[in-house]
Amino acid sequence: MATEVKATNITWHEGSVSRAEREKLLNQKGVTVWMTGLSASGKSTIACILEQMLLHEKKHAYRLDGDNVRHELNKNLGFSAEDRAENIRRIGEVAKLFADAGVIAITSFISPYVKDRDAVRANLKAGEFVEVYVKVSLEAAEKRDPKGLYKKARAGQLKGFTGIDDPYEAPEKAEIVIDTEVVPPEGAARQILDYLEKGGYLTA
Ligand code: ADX
Repeated sequence: MATEVKATNITWHEGSVSRAEREKLLNQKGVTVWMTGLSASGKSTIACILEQMLLHEKKHAYRLDGDNVRHELNKNLGFSAEDRAENIRRIGEVAKLFADAGVIAITSFISPYVKDRDAVRANLKAGEFVEVYVKVSLEAAEKRDPKGLYKKARAGQLKGFTGIDDPYEAPEKAEIVIDTEVVPPEGAARQILDYLEKGGYLTA
């Protein structure tokens, strides 16, 4: 469903500093590294390691994490398809602001619907959206179950849980695919870092 627009009589105020100037100052390019995958796939763990690796290389990165963002900014959203879409739309906009600031935004949201992820991609310039499919089988995710949510969902105490009784649509054109049943989190973060390095995102 399209977002209802209630804001009227508003005017865009252009700044005096260009994005290119900000990127030059930071010696990096603004980009959104969008991780998608089932709950317990390892998105947040990989995001934390990647953020630290980038900071150690003097690159400015910031994590936007599903569970964290839902504590405040998006606490009025649940897990219906409509609420998940709005969750992803808002985060897409926040990530876009980070990219404009020249910062590397690392997002870790299940983001189960192709349509919602593609909308975020379409809202950014070519090359500014790096989709990372953090792949895991449902069996392995259930075995990990760090928050005990799969168990709850199987017991019928949690309805609409992704992978159990709610869909997950795997990406078909992700820039990076990581099989977390084979690659450990450090290796996964390194793989993304290499992609950013080779893609010229870490200089300006
Ligand atoms: S998304 O689908 O809208 O992208 P998001 O990544 O923000 O989800 O939040 C997922 C987290 O919320 C999970 O890691 C889990 O801790 C919690 N959660 C609570 N209820 C659900 C549910 N019904 N489905 C999936 N995750 C849920």
